[in-house]
Amino acid sequence: RSDITTMANDTAMNTMQHFLQIEDFSRDTLLQLIDKANTIIHTDQKQQQQRGILAGKTLVNLFLEPSTRTRVSFELAARRLGGEVINLDNQQSSMRKNEDLLDTILSLQAMDCQLFALRHPKNSTVTTVSKQVPKGIAIINAGDGTRAHPSQALLDMLTIQQHKQDFSNLTVAIIGDIKHSRVANSQITALRRLGVKEIRLIGPETLLLTDLNDPLITTETSLVQGLQDADVVIVLRIQQERFQTEALPDLKEYYQHYGLTQSKLAHAKPDAIVMHPGPVNRGIEIDTEICDGPQSVIRQQISNGVAMRMAILSTLVKNLLQ
Ligand code: CP
Repeated sequence: RSDITTMANDTAMNTMQHFLQIEDFSRDTLLQLIDKANTIIHTDQKQQQQRGILAGKTLVNLFLEPSTRTRVSFELAARRLGGEVINLDNQQSSMRKNEDLLDTILSLQAMDCQLFALRHPKNSTVTTVSKQVPKGIAIINAGDGTRAHPSQALLDMLTIQQHKQDFSNLTVAIIGDIKHSRVANSQITALRRLGVKEIRLIGPETLLLTDLNDPLITTETSLVQGLQDADVVIVLRIQQERFQTEALPDLKEYYQHYGLTQSKLAHAKPDAIVMHPGPVNRGIEIDTEICDGPQSVIRQQISNGVAMRMAILSTLVKNLLQ
């Protein structure tokens, strides 16, 4: 593996100003970011901080929706690279007095903040803001609406690669509320780019995506059918906060049909891994014994989040300097 400071000369890696969506990256760029995160995992923490890749730089976590994993891992990532971090409290910020997002970012830039991890409930607001900010600012999509959560998808690809190495033979089953899941959207794009064999979307018809015209992707309303011989099983939470006109499924009934239990998981390959981006609702979409069981890599996903976000921040900061 290459050293974190001397990664290969991929054009996208050398010009990336913002980190917005998986669609912006080629297969090679995705693999390079995964490789970079893997290198970080195998590098001593103190060594990374001493390198001070983010020294003199400040990351602002600007989250307009709740978060545990993404916000904390961006904070740890920036600190481990020697940077400073501001966690702007949405409830206490002047956005409560109607200051808009762009003015908020420009005010923080005036205080020498350069990197902004942005989570927003509305689709595409993060991209819109990225087009309005001046040079010297990097916008990172930390999850926008139902559209994209690219850093989560990348850390998920890193986790899959750590267990399965070659993407081309994989059947990946994604279970649950795919319609409202920004994670699923970004994962599907990443899995397609990385060339998996098959993607199966499993859930009640009302929660599946219907407009996907891709022979690689199949939809399935039966969990047992969808899990047959799957290599990777990704479980999603029902995104109750994003339901608008649709009726919420009855959670007991949902668990009966789509909750991942040991007997249902037995239909996947014996060495299948079980993933969940979090937050997990035990007893609704997944049983506790699976969540904490030998096939679960859920905690590894969370750990990988720090390294993947270090890879993203160190790539963006290098390009800020140009
Ligand atoms: N996966 C994820 O985005 O988790 P958080 O909402 O806790 O950041």
